[in-house]
Amino acid sequence: MARAAAFPPSRSSPTLPLLPLLLLLLREIGAQDVQVRVPPEVRGYLGGTVQLPCHLLPPGPEVRVSQVTWLHVDAAGTSKSVAAFHPSYGPSFRGPKPGEERLSFVTAGQSTGTRQGTEIELRDATLALRGLTVEDEGNYTCEFATFPSGTSRGVTWLRAIAQPQNHAETQEVTLSLEPMPVARCVSEGGRPPARISWVSSLDGEGRQSQMSGPVPGTFTVTSRYTLVPLSRVDGVKVTCKVEHESFEEPILLPVTLSVRYPPEVSISGYDDNWYLGRSEATLSCDVRSKPEPTGYDWSTTAGVFPASAVAQGPQLIIHSVDKLVNTTFICTVTNAVGTGRAEQVVLVRDTPRASPRDVGPVVWGAVGGTLLVLLLLAGGSLAFILLRVRRRRKSPGGGGGGDSSGGGPYDPKTQVFGNGGPVFWTPTAPGPLKPEGKDEEDEEDEEEKAEEGLMLPPPKALEDDMESQLDGSLISRRAIYV
Ligand SMILES: *[C@@H]1O[C@H](CO)[C@@H](O)[C@H](O)[C@H]1NC(C)=O
Ligand SMILES: *[C@@H]1O[C@H](CO)[C@@H](O)[C@H](O)[C@H]1NC(C)=O
Repeated sequence: MARAAAFPPSRSSPTLPLLPLLLLLLREIGAQDVQVRVPPEVRGYLGGTVQLPCHLLPPGPEVRVSQVTWLHVDAAGTSKSVAAFHPSYGPSFRGPKPGEERLSFVTAGQSTGTRQGTEIELRDATLALRGLTVEDEGNYTCEFATFPSGTSRGVTWLRAIAQPQNHAETQEVTLSLEPMPVARCVSEGGRPPARISWVSSLDGEGRQSQMSGPVPGTFTVTSRYTLVPLSRVDGVKVTCKVEHESFEEPILLPVTLSVRYPPEVSISGYDDNWYLGRSEATLSCDVRSKPEPTGYDWSTTAGVFPASAVAQGPQLIIHSVDKLVNTTFICTVTNAVGTGRAEQVVLVRDTPRASPRDVGPVVWGAVGGTLLVLLLLAGGSLAFILLRVRRRRKSPGGGGGGDSSGGGPYDPKTQVFGNGGPVFWTPTAPGPLKPEGKDEEDEEDEEEKAEEGLMLPPPKALEDDMESQLDGSLISRRAIYV
């Protein structure tokens, strides 16, 4: 076989003794009229077969090819010949890795055979390389030695690439105020390394690390989506985006985040119209938590639990409202992560409320607009003063986010009032007459509820503080319009 023929170490080898001389001569004549055409870059998959095209132009018979040589320049700049084709002697190879017959000429010598002594018209020197490895990468020079035009060459950059395998998964975490990874996206065995990014409405960041992949020359990239895992992060979908030149389009991998958090509790059902003798009043303990609550506990700040109240899981049913119900109810909820609680101030009236929201203005109007204005002014200033006093009291210990000794951004007030709200805040006086006033309060409540998301079970010191806040609660919106 011609392939087994000894490979000439260089062009000046004894097999072609006249060639250097010939080339010198040709260079003087000028070798502008032939051209070697190669692609500037060829990519092949690691382990696969790749072709390095090389054609001599023009293809006509007026040029005679003495020899074709392929040279490989590796990343270190070392150049060596790997394949040659002689019109009479046929092909000869010395692969990038010795001992491996991974090279072949794709068309040269195929049509007319490679018997010694028969000259072949060499125009297509396309080289095939099987079992591509990282070491095969580099620049390959295809060199045509011709008569009478001389030597022409073209250079192709061969790159070995590998398509990565990708997967993404959630990493369940427990509520924390420190950033931590909540999802992981891995692109394994890519060459070059894949680019990973995250598509999300949350303000997390991808933290990336890279190591070598399972096949030499490949890379495994891992990106961990990291953020502060608050309860609102639970259930949010984020998408890992993997980009690689072997993909036509980026790969999108959706992940649903999972955060375990202690119960976030509020109480509903109090309609500000509980009066002596009213039947079937109910408070409901509304909970968001992960995992599901394991227990509900109802109690009162007074310590005495009214006999007329019956706790049924998240519900507190009062069959008949009596004086003992005139207290603050606490719902404490526990799950595997922790405990949360909410309180509801219940004001028991002697008689049902005469729905002041509707009747009030009419009555007042009958009495006289002047009186109303005066009252509004008086009430407004009172509320303003109270607010100032309250604010001053609030500010020193106020729940600033960075207060680590106080147990984080925890506002005891929210816990005290549950969804009842800190309600003496009535800027333009009789709350019921001014729907805007109510709205503002609701907004405040909403904000507080949002803050509640950050809460961990209250430290002891704060619970004490809550007691003192309770007194303040008696000056409530409800009290004003009774
Ligand atoms: C191949 O050549 C190109 C420019 O011609 C260069 O940018 C590249 O780095 C070379 N590759 C190697 C592996 O030497
Ligand atoms: C409930 O308590 C408040 C004070 O905490 C009091 O003003 C009100 O009269 C009480 N209601 C009843 C029915 O005792």
